[in-house]
Amino acid sequence: MILTKQDIQRLDKLRRSNLINSVTGIKPANLIGTLSRAGIPNLAIFSSVMHIGSNPALIGFILRPKNEVARHTWENIEQTGCYSINHVHRKFAENAHFTSAKFDNGVSEFEQCHLTEQYIDKFEAPFVNESDIKIGLQFKDAIPIELNDTTLVIGEVQHLIVPDHALDDGWQCDLASVDGMGISGLNGYYALSKVAHYPYARPGALPDFKFKPIK
Ligand SMILES: Cc1cc2nc3c(=O)[nH]c(=O)nc-3n(C[C@H](O)[C@H](O)[C@H](O)COP(=O)(O)O)c2cc1C
Repeated sequence: MILTKQDIQRLDKLRRSNLINSVTGIKPANLIGTLSRAGIPNLAIFSSVMHIGSNPALIGFILRPKNEVARHTWENIEQTGCYSINHVHRKFAENAHFTSAKFDNGVSEFEQCHLTEQYIDKFEAPFVNESDIKIGLQFKDAIPIELNDTTLVIGEVQHLIVPDHALDDGWQCDLASVDGMGISGLNGYYALSKVAHYPYARPGALPDFKFKPIK
């Protein structure tokens, strides 16, 4: 199938959203935890979490348009300046998915979706107890993307919780070892398995073959 820009524009909203949301490949499955100023916890699934830079350690995510509906995650980040990012694992992927429902302000997705709040080192945002890999962030910047009224929200890492067994010799997270999940589109969940680890790429040390299937 070959689709032009016009074909894509003519698709109904759901098909267009499914297609464009999945065509870029697998995205990470994370839950963002926040606390309102009144102390009410909030949790929501986000697939747009991305690495921005390692020094300083910056992580971003894309927030959908703020004016259409209430965005509790954003409102809480504005109020407290901090939030947690928690990996979704296979054992609670379904619970995590349903945090995307539009709950009223004041309703805790932790309670509704049977996940457990965890507080670490007086950090003012709840982590997800069931999650093995979690990041505590301090809000740093919100960059408006005028093209579609979304926002790139950037935070700096304050806390990192990773089980020792999930780090390889070079300190890369082995996501398969914690049953990590990937997301395609808005409701497709994938299991992850690590199949290769290649050396740093240099022009003088390239593969001398066309294909070598991964075993
Ligand atoms: C698989 C999946 C991925 C999502 N990713 C994002 C995302 O990256 N950015 C976003 O703003 N909303 C995303 N959402 C929608 C939010 O989860 C949803 O709007 C949620 O109600 C936000 O909750 P809040 O109002 O408590 O912040 C996603 C939903 C699903 C099901």
